[in-house]
This record gives sequence, structure tokens and C-alpha cells, in this order.
Amino acid sequence: MKKFITSALPYANGPIHIGHLVEYIQADICVRFLKLIGEEVLFICADDAHGAPIEINAAKQGITPEQLISKYLKEHQDDFAAFHIAFDNYYTTNSQENKEFADLIFETLRKKGFIYEKEVELTYCPTDKRFLPDRYVKGTCPKCGAQDQYGDVCEKCNSAYKTIDLINPYCAICKTTPVRKNSKHYFFKVSAFSDKLRLFITNHKQIQEEVKNHIISWIEQGLEDWDISRDGPYFGFLIPGETDKYYYVWLDAPIGYFASLANYAKKNNFDPMDYLKGEGSFGHFIGKDIMYFHLLFWPAMLMGSEFNLPSFYQVHGFLTVNGEKMSKSRGTFLTAKEFLQISDPEFLRFYFASNLGSNVSDIDLNWQDYYDKINSELVSKLANFCYRAQSFCEEHFEGKLERHIDENVEKEIQREVENTEKAYSERNLRQAVTHILEIASIGNRYFQENEPWKLIKTDKKKAHEIISYSISIARRLAIILWPVTPKYSESLAKQLNTQILWSSLKKPFEKLSTNKPEIVFRKLEEIPAPKIAADPFSTLQIKVGKVLSVEDHPNADKLYVLKLDTGEERQLVAGLKPYIPKSELLGLHVCVLTNLKPAILRGKESQGMILAADDGKNVVPLSAPHSQPGDKVFAEDLIPEPEPREITFDDFKKIPLIIKNNHATYNGKILQTQMEKIGATISDGAKIR
Ligand code: 2FM
Ligand code: ZN
Repeated sequence: MKKFITSALPYANGPIHIGHLVEYIQADICVRFLKLIGEEVLFICADDAHGAPIEINAAKQGITPEQLISKYLKEHQDDFAAFHIAFDNYYTTNSQENKEFADLIFETLRKKGFIYEKEVELTYCPTDKRFLPDRYVKGTCPKCGAQDQYGDVCEKCNSAYKTIDLINPYCAICKTTPVRKNSKHYFFKVSAFSDKLRLFITNHKQIQEEVKNHIISWIEQGLEDWDISRDGPYFGFLIPGETDKYYYVWLDAPIGYFASLANYAKKNNFDPMDYLKGEGSFGHFIGKDIMYFHLLFWPAMLMGSEFNLPSFYQVHGFLTVNGEKMSKSRGTFLTAKEFLQISDPEFLRFYFASNLGSNVSDIDLNWQDYYDKINSELVSKLANFCYRAQSFCEEHFEGKLERHIDENVEKEIQREVENTEKAYSERNLRQAVTHILEIASIGNRYFQENEPWKLIKTDKKKAHEIISYSISIARRLAIILWPVTPKYSESLAKQLNTQILWSSLKKPFEKLSTNKPEIVFRKLEEIPAPKIAADPFSTLQIKVGKVLSVEDHPNADKLYVLKLDTGEERQLVAGLKPYIPKSELLGLHVCVLTNLKPAILRGKESQGMILAADDGKNVVPLSAPHSQPGDKVFAEDLIPEPEPREITFDDFKKIPLIIKNNHATYNGKILQTQMEKIGATISDGAKIR
């Protein structure tokens, strides 16, 4: 059967991040599985290269859109390769093939009366001389009055509206007030497909129920016709017969699936239509945010232009990190490249697989859980079992195997192989991983219960049998885990002298010898999160300082002028006079914010600030009696940037530091040095400043 599978096309406008990777890894595992069981299937993707943001960003950077998209095309391909995501073809939507397919579909729809023209009123910036897309107009929400909202939905009250409805709108590019202007646009009559779409969705066997419910409810609310054109300046394909109107990026993006296939077909001498009409079939992996385009607009376009309809949809949720939306300031927004610096890409594949069921739920990357799963399941349970069996065999039997099968254990294994196969085919990767780990547990149990390390002294033949069959189990693990961790599996298979073939899972033995064992996966030494934390706290440089001298400020009643040793000598001005006598301060080890912009306070320079807790009544400096002058203060796993830039007092005020149980804390994390936790004896909730 002619079949291809796609994952959503990433915009050629920014790097691949771990949120994207959920889908590419999920799809890659499913495709690898299909290939492993012998299905002929192609894995097709491309960069989504059109749209206003790409044109605007390129202009901002002083390069052409073509230069911008070719930079990302290369980067994206490198990132996918690094995570072993093996597309059969990776292309771009800015291609001749895509132009041809887009025109073909557009013209067919137009001929059949599914496309019409209509004047629309839009937001236009006279300064930039362009119509402004939703995301480039901001203003006050017409529903709730929230300021600084985008032109499509309000982030405060979630209501949707048209850009022209914004109150006090301004252009996000140049900040001037836009005007309203009319333009002729092309519309696709999606409404004409309501009934057909409802049937398509309702009767489909391979759409998740929760997805069906969403789509049906959208159809029931009534489908509006879709504006498929945009005025120049725009980066995209000109609409036939027009000089300054382009296809909207979302029109030619899904068509890009076909174009990438066609590009592959050209290189491999076949007719792409074999995959798109008649017997051909294709299925899509997508995120839940783009269901509307893929399950309504796209099938309607296909219906109207007489192509086959998608044979399956696998919709996934979003990725959260430690239970929260990924965020740059929390350091949880990681690009693919950044992730490679902290962990093995196959660990992420394994982790995502063990969390991805077949439903649309969001999945969470929790660092503690990541660390535990990798160490206890992948490394200890699975990889170490294989390594132990191999090393034992190498040491005592020079890697030679004896054909020995424990029939009962073999039955259990075959049952788990079947369960895994079923789970993989249902694209339930979490289930698949559970069953694979069960095989590893069976192997461990067999090894432990039979105690070959004792038998070797009493019954060498028996020991040889046990170890040979253990290796037979390891061999099966190498094969069955290949879709998830292909590089590890390939290395293990090579060591065990086996080929990665699904049919071999049924055969306990192939060659009766193994090669030298090698450790491939090692336990994670530490939770990777700290290394990458770019938390606001990390912008603070706090050091322990010893008070060398204290004097009254000559021009202020409440201020002291102090000299401190914070690794280097510095002068500080502090408002501590009403609270602490000089004699108590002298010699104290306090905490100093050292990267605060120096300031002149009543004529005396202050190079930083002594941190003190203030509960409205008392003010107590944070103390670190057992630490050395110059020691750094951090908040548990949040490591400060090595050379943080200077910050202002306003920056500092935004970072919530408070006292809890006599400890200084930031977001529940205790401030500390290498030596001790930082404290101040004062009531809970006291603010640090
Ligand atoms: O949402 C996105 O990132 C789009 N670039 C996905 C396009 S998928 C397909 F339609 F091309
Ligand atoms: Zn403007």
C-alpha cells in the first residue's frame, strides 16, 4: 500500500524546541515501528516557510525571506537528525512543487464555485504601508478593556474579535495608529462542506473521540467561510491573475505535505498521485492547537479538489515543564540544541514515549521524574540487565551461547511482545514502553532467581544455559526498543550479533556468539535542570560580606556608611541605623547584592546593598556566620549566571524574596551558600530588600 505519514511543518522562523520535539519524536517512533514490522511507509515533513512574520522578521534582520528560511531549513534538519528523527523527505513549502499543487487545488476549487471574492475592511498601517495581521495590531480589548491585547484574542478574557474592533489600536511594528482600509479578498466556502465534514469526522475510525467531539461541536456552531488571501507585502505564492495578493500561509502549508512527497517522488521516480488518490493513504500527527486547520479546512479543501482524505489523525497535547507552561524566564524553554547539551537525545525519546498515551492530554517534563525514569527504568532495569548478562557471558564463556529456552518464560515474553505490538500500532507509546519494561523485568527475574553467579561454581553447564537464555531476552529488548532508542538498539544489536528485524522476536536464538559488551547508557549523574536555569533569580549576584567598619552617614540620620569585604573591599550605604547598633554590625557576615547599579546616597557612594528582612516592625540583616567573605549565595538548584549584568533596584524589587521559618527563600527555595542556609530571626513573610 502507498502510505505516507506527516508531522506538522515547523515555521522557518525560529529554532526547534523541546515542545516541538514531542510530536516529531512521537511520529518518528510510530513510523519506525511500522517500518520495523515491514510496512512500506514514508515519513514526510517540511519547513513552513511563508507568512507575514517571516517577511517582517527578515526585513528586521536586513536579509531576504529566502535567506531567513534557508538558515532555518538547515538548522531544523540538523536538530531533527540529532534526535534521530528520520524523515524520508524534508522539504520547504517555498518550492515549485508546492506552488503547482497550491495552484491546482485553488483553481479546481474556484472552477467548482467554492471560491468567491469579497471586499473586507482591514487594519492598515499608513506608516509601514501594509495591512496588519492579527498579531501586529495591539490595543484595548473591546470586551473587557484589558490593554495591550493582540488583534485576534484577548489574553485576559479570552474573547475573540476582529482587529478592526480593537479600541485605541496601534501598529505593533511602528506604534502609530492604523486606519481602516478595504481590500478584495478570496474566500473558500467551507460552509458548503459542513454535512460532508460531519460525516467524515463521525464515521472516521482513526480520530480520537475527544478530537471528534471538538470538531463536531465546531461544525454545529456553524462554519464560516475562510479568508485564504493576504495583501502584499507578504512572503508567499501570488494568487494566479493577481499582482499583489498571496495565498494565506495556512492554505499552502498542508499542501506542503503533498509537495514534499512529490519532491521525494521526483527523486525516486514514482508518481506522487499514487499516494494521494485511489489506493494511496496518508495520516497526520498534529498538536491540538491546529485541529481546526487539519480537521476542517484541510479535508474540505481535499474534498473539493478530489483528493483522498487523511486516513488517520494523531493529535497530541502541549508540553509543560515541571507542571507549568514552558517559559524563557523560568529557564524551561529549551531549544533542541540546548537540550543536547544537558542530556542524551535518546533519553528524551524514551521519556516522551513513556508519557505519551494515545489521547490528547498535555504531557509534563518533570526533571525529577525524568531523572528517576531514565535511571531506574531505562538504565537500571533494561540496559544494565543486558550489560550484566553480556559481561557474564564474555567473562565465563567467551561470548559463546548455548541454545536453551525456558518455555514458561518464553511464553511470557511472547505475550509481552504481542502487547507491545498492539500498543505501538495503536500509537499508544506509553503502553508500548510499559510492556517493553515488563520484558526487562522478566529478564531480571529470570537472571536473579537462577543465580548464575553461584551455578558457575557448581554447575557450569546450567550456568551457561541460564546466561544464554538471558542474552536471548536482551536480544529481543534491543529489537523491540529500536523505534524508541534506535542508536542504543543498534549498538546493542551489534554487540549481540543480531539484526533488528521484528520477525526475530519470535526466535530466541540466531547466531550463537556475541561480541564484546560495551556500556552505552550511563545513569544521569544529576538533575539537568540547574545547569540551564535562566530564572530571574539567576540575574542576582549575592555574596557574603564581612563588615569591616561602620560609621554614621554625615548627611543622614538613619544611614550608616559601611566598609565590607565581599572578596574585594566595597563601600555601602545602608538604612540600618534605627535597628542595629554599630557594635553589633561590626564583624558580622551579611549578604550583599553586589551587582546592583552603584548609587550616590546623600553624597556617599553605595556599591550594592546589604540584604535585610523587614516585617514592618523590625529589620534584620540576612546573616551567613559560617561562610567566607565572597562566597556566593544561591537558591537551591538555581545557580546564578557566572557574570550577571548590573541590575537596577526596580529589577531587584520584582524578585520575590521572603522569610519562611527563619530562612530566606525565593519561590519556596531556600537561599544558601556552600556552607549553610541563609537566615534571619524574624516573623514569617518578612520581605527581603
Ligand atoms: O502551527 C504551526 O507551527 C504550523 N507551521 C503548522 C503547519 S502544519 C501543516 F499544515 F503544514
Ligand atoms: Zn506601523
